[in-house]
Amino acid sequence: MVQRLVWQEQRSTRHTASMLTTAKVALVLTALLVPVAKFLGVMECDDDPQYTEDAQMKFPEHYREWVYLSTGFDMSYSTNGMAMDHHMFDNVFVNPEAYKAFVATGKWPDKTVMVLEARMAKGKGSINQKGNYQDEEIMGFEVHVRDDARFPGKWAFFGFDGGKTGKMVPATATCYSCHQDHGAVDTTFVQFYPTLLPIAKSKSTLAAKYMEEIGAPSGKQPL
Ligand code: HEC
Repeated sequence: MVQRLVWQEQRSTRHTASMLTTAKVALVLTALLVPVAKFLGVMECDDDPQYTEDAQMKFPEHYREWVYLSTGFDMSYSTNGMAMDHHMFDNVFVNPEAYKAFVATGKWPDKTVMVLEARMAKGKGSINQKGNYQDEEIMGFEVHVRDDARFPGKWAFFGFDGGKTGKMVPATATCYSCHQDHGAVDTTFVQFYPTLLPIAKSKSTLAAKYMEEIGAPSGKQPL
């Protein structure tokens, strides 16, 4: 009887051990295969753009865990623009996968998502006497997304007014023409993203129109 119990125990330990091994193998396989599948585009990545059935984009809620590109302060695109009665910041973020691809190639891959977050500037507050800092309240979001299979022009803009979903900005809007005509790399404003501009220069991926705009000799990328 005792012997039988011992045997049963051994059996069940061995059984548990083999279950554990199977679980470990499964874990290792998942750890190995998921990145490969993502790389091959077989599996959807968590940061890939998501849409609703009525063609709105779902807001990428974890964008604050993405890669920070830059902050524009009171940027204005016309010389005779109306003076604002307040100051503003805009912070730009991009999904980590796209960032890594840009660092390697100087180009944006399919499924790049860029988020522009606008915040009001504050002056005096706490110990601050001069200069500006960002308000905790967000004024709005704009998203620039590359999705080759979905948009004829590859890229599209979406506006979000604090909601979880946002509508696509019509392709006739000036967003598209300004970004197309003046963006340094593939309709994005890499000339204002200080960690990316040197990469675009070294990989020679600056847009021809942009090179013309800055007076670079044609066919030559500025160093
Ligand atoms: C007259 C030119 C101009 C127009 C029009 C314009 N933008 Fe931009 N956009 C810029 C510039 C310049 C930046 C860089 C901002 C910075 O450096 O902080 C930018 C950056 C962005 C970014 C960050 C990602 C990127 O592409 O570099 C988004 C998102 C964006 N704009 C959305 C929009 C949307 C949506 C509209 C239309 C409603 C729009 N823009 C219209 C000039 C423009």
